[in-house]
Amino acid sequence: MTDNDHDSSATANQRAVLITGCSSGIGLHAALELRKHGYRVFATARKTADVEKLTAQGLTALQLDLDDAQSIGNSLAQVLDETGGKLYGLFNNGGFGQSGAVEDLPTEALRAQFETLFFGWHELTRQVVPVMRRQGYGRIVQNSSVLGFAAMPYRGAYNSVKFAIEGLSDTLRLELRGSGVYVSIIQPGPIRTRFRANGLQKFHDNINHQDSAHRAYYEATLARLQASGDASRFTLGPEAVTEKLLHALNSNSPKLRYRVTTPTIAFSIAKRLLPGFLLDKILATIP
Ligand SMILES: NC(=O)c1ccc[n+]([C@@H]2O[C@H](COP(=O)([O-])OP(=O)(O)OC[C@H]3O[C@@H](n4cnc5c(N)ncnc54)[C@H](OP(=O)(O)O)[C@@H]3O)[C@@H](O)[C@H]2O)c1
Repeated sequence: MTDNDHDSSATANQRAVLITGCSSGIGLHAALELRKHGYRVFATARKTADVEKLTAQGLTALQLDLDDAQSIGNSLAQVLDETGGKLYGLFNNGGFGQSGAVEDLPTEALRAQFETLFFGWHELTRQVVPVMRRQGYGRIVQNSSVLGFAAMPYRGAYNSVKFAIEGLSDTLRLELRGSGVYVSIIQPGPIRTRFRANGLQKFHDNINHQDSAHRAYYEATLARLQASGDASRFTLGPEAVTEKLLHALNSNSPKLRYRVTTPTIAFSIAKRLLPGFLLDKILATIP
């Protein structure tokens, strides 16, 4: 059997995969692509209008808001109802980025960041694990980030929640050893999606930049974003993430971590090789 063959214990009708955050970006691309690869995709989004759009694209779509435990439970129950209680894969993906200096972050904004990207992911995963344990196989794939291991200025809320997801996922992987359930982490760098536009909205909603010690930085950044957009030359399309997701689902030996984009690879090497003070010098210059 090659590295890309399916686990023989998972027959076609068992290969159901639940994806969160499919209204746009990586989640939407993954849903459409996995379907092409023969998976039984359950694409979820938090807004009814997006569920309808997904359905119009021929996907099996369900409403799932990571901030709402009841919505998580209801949507998983519907999936299991349709699959006879089986779920091959879970792609934890839905979320947003709250930017702003640590000293400017209202506690409520930090809480909201963790509600979606940490407690929401945990609640869904906690409900999925017994299903996968019972069936004796399964794949849990966590869409983390380069910011899950490299801290960068003005990204404290997002940094801390992705670091937390990395820690939780590493522990979960150890606890699932021998169960047939694998946990993989994908670490994308910049990917072309609605992530930055959605994050900018959160910045305006929650950060009082006028009264901040970082006001000059904020103004320069907002002007730069308005003038030239935010695509760095290293930005890739969502297909770069889906390709790794497919490996994590298909392979008999899924990797612990998949690094996507040049910045992720470069920072993972730099983090291993450079002393902290030197790494700080580089990271502090990131706009
Ligand atoms: N783009 C990047 O450069 C990049 C890099 C590294 C990691 N990532 C990670 O990739 C994942 C997907 O982001 P993306 O880049 O595809 O951005 P995106 O286009 O903004 O998509 C984010 C998705 O998450 C959903 N979402 C937000 N809050 C949610 C909630 N409470 N419950 C359920 N879904 C929710 C959004 O739904 P709404 O439309 O309803 O808001 C949207 O469907 C995120 O976890 C992000 O941290 C992105």
